[in-house]
Amino acid sequence: MYETWEELEKSINNCQKCKLCKTRQNIVFGTGNKNADIMFIGEGPGADEDRLGEPFVGRAGKLMDLAFEIVEIKREDVYIANIVKCRPPQNRNPEDDEAKACMDYLRNQVILVKPKIIVLLGSVALKNILGKEYGITQARGKWIEKKGIMYMPTWHPAALLRDENKKADFINDLFLVKEYISSKSEF
Ligand code: URA
Ligand code: SF4
Repeated sequence: MYETWEELEKSINNCQKCKLCKTRQNIVFGTGNKNADIMFIGEGPGADEDRLGEPFVGRAGKLMDLAFEIVEIKREDVYIANIVKCRPPQNRNPEDDEAKACMDYLRNQVILVKPKIIVLLGSVALKNILGKEYGITQARGKWIEKKGIMYMPTWHPAALLRDENKKADFINDLFLVKEYISSKSEF
């Protein structure tokens, strides 16, 4: 556990804690507001993210940006990270040993950001953060409180590319997040 972002970011340099280090181009650590109220957790980098070193910059990310515009969430106000920081080959799901090896970084990011809300993007994020007993179809759109953090599971943005019908759910879930934040901020 590192107390500062500098130490944490340095600690991941050239990480070889799992086999994904062999095929990656860049580690995708995370981006955004390091004191965000809202944190988004995805699955792992895709090809574009691997090439650029930033999360959600490919097709799924562009769709997420559109949804953010609709609900008036600014990307620079939130913090975005992934379960694994290196791209799984052929965009397969991260394997359990990889997710486990990488989890300390994410845990440390959450401790430093101290978000009020964590949006879990898809099944891989949900199961790795809250437990294998959860299923995304059942859990999405419903708040789960754990250790003082409000979790909102929702579809992974890539799922919206495959199934148009999921877009409305995704927007709806983001509205719930906005609503919660607005209800907590004092004027
Ligand atoms: N999908 C993810 O889960 N994360 C990214 O950063 C990009 C695509
Ligand atoms: Fe290290 Fe995580 Fe990359 Fe595996 S995925 S090599 S644990 S940074």
